[in-house]
Amino acid sequence: MAISQDYLQELSQRTDIIELVSGYVQLRRRGRTYTGLCPFHSEKTASFVVYPENSSFYCFGCGAGGDAITFVRKINNLDYIEAVRFLASRAGMPMPDERDDAGKIKRRILEMNKDTARFFAAQLNTDEGRQARGYLRGRALSDATIRHFGLGYSPDGYYTTREYLKKLGYTEEEMLAGGIIKRGQRGGTYDFFHGRVMFPIIDLRGNVIAFGGRRMGEEGGPKYLNSGDTPVFKKSRNMFALNFAKKSKSRRYILCEGYMDAIALHQAGFDTAVAPLGTAFTPEQARLLSNYADELVLSYDSDEAGQKATRRAIGLLANEPMKVSILTVQGAKDPDEFIKKYGPDRFRMLLDGCSNAIEYELARAKAKYDLTKPDGQVGYLKDAIGILAGRITPTERDVYAGRIAEETNVEKKAVLTQLESQVRARDRKAKREREKELMQEGIASQIKVPYTQGGQKALGVAFAEQQLMAAAIREPQMLEKIAQRVTPEQFIAPEMAEVYRLLLQKHAQGDAIELSQLSGELPESTIALLSRILAQNYDVGFTEQDVDLYLERLEDSVPKSLEAAQMSGEQLEDYLKKLREKRR
Ligand code: UTP
Ligand code: MN
Repeated sequence: MAISQDYLQELSQRTDIIELVSGYVQLRRRGRTYTGLCPFHSEKTASFVVYPENSSFYCFGCGAGGDAITFVRKINNLDYIEAVRFLASRAGMPMPDERDDAGKIKRRILEMNKDTARFFAAQLNTDEGRQARGYLRGRALSDATIRHFGLGYSPDGYYTTREYLKKLGYTEEEMLAGGIIKRGQRGGTYDFFHGRVMFPIIDLRGNVIAFGGRRMGEEGGPKYLNSGDTPVFKKSRNMFALNFAKKSKSRRYILCEGYMDAIALHQAGFDTAVAPLGTAFTPEQARLLSNYADELVLSYDSDEAGQKATRRAIGLLANEPMKVSILTVQGAKDPDEFIKKYGPDRFRMLLDGCSNAIEYELARAKAKYDLTKPDGQVGYLKDAIGILAGRITPTERDVYAGRIAEETNVEKKAVLTQLESQVRARDRKAKREREKELMQEGIASQIKVPYTQGGQKALGVAFAEQQLMAAAIREPQMLEKIAQRVTPEQFIAPEMAEVYRLLLQKHAQGDAIELSQLSGELPESTIALLSRILAQNYDVGFTEQDVDLYLERLEDSVPKSLEAAQMSGEQLEDYLKKLREKRR
């Protein structure tokens, strides 16, 4: 990373993490820390803590943690450099030169993409582009819409785009990296998009990051061709038209299946329509949307595939802090066709009257059974309780329980009792899973030891390694003490060995040792882990004795076998509990 330590230090000094986080989370002061509802998972009681003293945050609920840069990365879905830029502009600092190769190639690809998009757009107005113009007109897109979305045409022939970009000074290597050309079987290169209507994919900062291309006729390969992932594009983390949607006054977003649906909706005045990018809707996209939307209306195609995708999306959205509604277009295969047939007003009516996710699922379940027969009633009751137990507030629960009772001829009280026991069972299961995840993510992630004496010992060693690294970050003078007694090579957890090496290197260079100086050089998971350990030790801190104890544990144990199975969550938990008691 080309960003200097001095720069990061100044950035960290100029960034008030409380002020930063307050832009996204309502924080309450609690002694020396601040707490609030975690923005990274949905929760009702605050387990998200911000520590002004070391400018870090940690969520005890979901394990997210890190420094200001990590926070900005996660909440705005940015990469490291972008997050630094974000904070720098907030702090009124000019950006340092990005001299690293990764930054250079990214900038170059973005520039090339912009030139390519301009080229495609210009091609639309040439003789050659006549068919494409006709195609877009046939799909009822206005000139204004075509310009707004920067639609274009990739000329037929295999080298036109490549040759054009060459003249502008781009190398084939750059075109390959950006996915504009492909290498053929014989080793030569050719245009990835040719003879297609082009849809540029634009990110939240207005960069052209990728393209989708639609064939015009029935022949000629897949209907849509999409850029693969490149250094500037990850399709699972971006959404088509989100750059426009985020400017809307409305916080009710419409999720549709494809580019054309989204464009048709925007043209009809629904400016919060977005679509995935040639893949199914992903958890990352669910998270991304929840940063902008209060409500998400799923508006997929009315065919079986669309309905299947709807159910999948409902599942992904269950834990996001957005209201989810489902709109089913009737009498048309998708929103695009619906608006063409019935007009925007009818669509608006659908939008305003659409059912929430629970109603949608209940209706689906009901359709499966014959409610005039006892068998059918029991089947429906079971399904319905399963649906309600998944996601619902107590008031809602009461309302739906009443309805289901009526539909199935069962007493409401009985429905509620069953429902509550299911909810409790689910909560218990979710809690166990969460704890297990936290444990495994933390202490057990890299240690694979059998549950034997040796295994427990190795685990204790790994725990000691983590504590030592946290101690060194919190009290840098401890690092020298540690360095006198163990080397990074003696560590059994590779990620802690990496931390240790980095700390030693920084110490040797006379650099400051702070979380904010480390986040660019360690994987996000390691930063989250360190934040967790720091958070857990926040009140007690680390004494010389603690450090001695951990060092001893390291010195007198060489783990015997490091293969075999991981410890189960319960075993781990048990072990950690004992350890904590011992410390007291
Ligand atoms: P659809 O086939 O429903 O696309 O696929 P659409 O947008 O309604 O297309 P039109 O109206 O026929 O032009 C939905 C989405 O799935 C992806 C595209 O992102 C498309 O918008 N897709 C579909 C592909 O990536 N490749 C394909 O071959 C087909
Ligand atoms: Mn469609």
